[in-house]
Amino acid sequence: MKSGDGEKLKSTDYRPAPFSVEQVKADFPILDQKVNRHQLVYLDNAASTQKPRSVINALLEYYRHSNSNIHRGMHTLAERATQAYEGTRSHVAQFVGGVLDEEVIFTSGTTEAINLVAATWGEVNISEGDEIVITEMEHHANLVPWVMLAKSKSAVLKRIPITICGHLDLSNIDEIITKKTKLVAVSHMSNVLGTINPVKEIVARAHAVGAVALVDGAQAAPHMAINVRDLGADFYTFSAHKMLGPTGVGVLIGRKEMLEEMPPYKMGGEMIREVRFDRVTWNDLPHKFEAGTPNIADVVAFDAALTYLDEIGMDKVRLHEMQLTDYAMKKLTELPSIEIQGPQEPDQRGGAISFTDRDVHPHDIATFLDSKGIAVRAGHHCAQPLMRVLGKVATARASLYIYNDESDVDRLVEALVEMRRYFGV
Ligand code: ALA
Repeated sequence: MKSGDGEKLKSTDYRPAPFSVEQVKADFPILDQKVNRHQLVYLDNAASTQKPRSVINALLEYYRHSNSNIHRGMHTLAERATQAYEGTRSHVAQFVGGVLDEEVIFTSGTTEAINLVAATWGEVNISEGDEIVITEMEHHANLVPWVMLAKSKSAVLKRIPITICGHLDLSNIDEIITKKTKLVAVSHMSNVLGTINPVKEIVARAHAVGAVALVDGAQAAPHMAINVRDLGADFYTFSAHKMLGPTGVGVLIGRKEMLEEMPPYKMGGEMIREVRFDRVTWNDLPHKFEAGTPNIADVVAFDAALTYLDEIGMDKVRLHEMQLTDYAMKKLTELPSIEIQGPQEPDQRGGAISFTDRDVHPHDIATFLDSKGIAVRAGHHCAQPLMRVLGKVATARASLYIYNDESDVDRLVEALVEMRRYFGV
């Protein structure tokens, strides 16, 4: 499969996964437990994924053998910790298709990565009357920073609408992205609709009018091969915890020349070259954006998560999820009371499946499923404006990953049938 937008594969009925899901499942100790007396089925992967033994061990190993501060020590442990931390940076640079190590900035998550761009690039480059373009399907991380920046700068926030099928409606794109546009910020994959957006095309349109393009890959990077250069994005963001890694680690990929121009985000140690009482100069990339002691242990353990995904292969991850999503959509569609949001075509969407039941509130769906050991999310999914567009107060969402298989989907569907009997509807 071609990396990037990743829409080439077709799938029909459920086919065997391109890797052994059983073996993968066995690598995740947390999955081997009963919740509410039922074997756990974890379907809340769009919120956060579980961690394989190798990631958990990497964290322990780091604290047992290498723990130290980085970039400043002259002893063996400091050197070990620095090498491990910088090793993850190089790994990330390869994982996204090959960027420079100094173009990889570690943050606390996607949210901080986007806040960083808004507070630094945005502060310098957005002025009164400028236009910032987002889409109707953004989650709050790629929405609130732009709402607030537009407000503080008296800039204009415009949005690309969605179609009834949950795709971006690009029919009026030339009226939305214009010469006044300074920034286009778009999610690669929707956390609610599952839609895979044609970001390469949108980035090209942004560049054609001289605008900068940020792609929020929080839901895409865990699930498909990414090539940031091929997409053309000036900024690309994602979070480790949604791709088998620890919480508290995010990534901002930025074009070197832009990162060099941008002012720093946080002030303190590490991000400086020279400090006087009356002036300060900044360190080189990427350190300019990593003030203070970073989240060393979790960054180090993130390397094991990337290795785990590399070993499966991101194309296989995508193929498995596409097949399983197809299976899940077909099974759910057999339930007449269930309405699924987002594209129906498995090759145009990921495995975040938001749905409602005609008669049961999404919160009650999630609570009932939990009583059967099945973890899903219910609510607005940190995308309140999208919920308004959909005319929903909330949805339930089952989201799939590499350790899910058709038996998990079957458990979900059986529980939804039982739920209706339970509620007498
Ligand atoms: N954006 C995360 C989710 O969709 C938190 O659940």
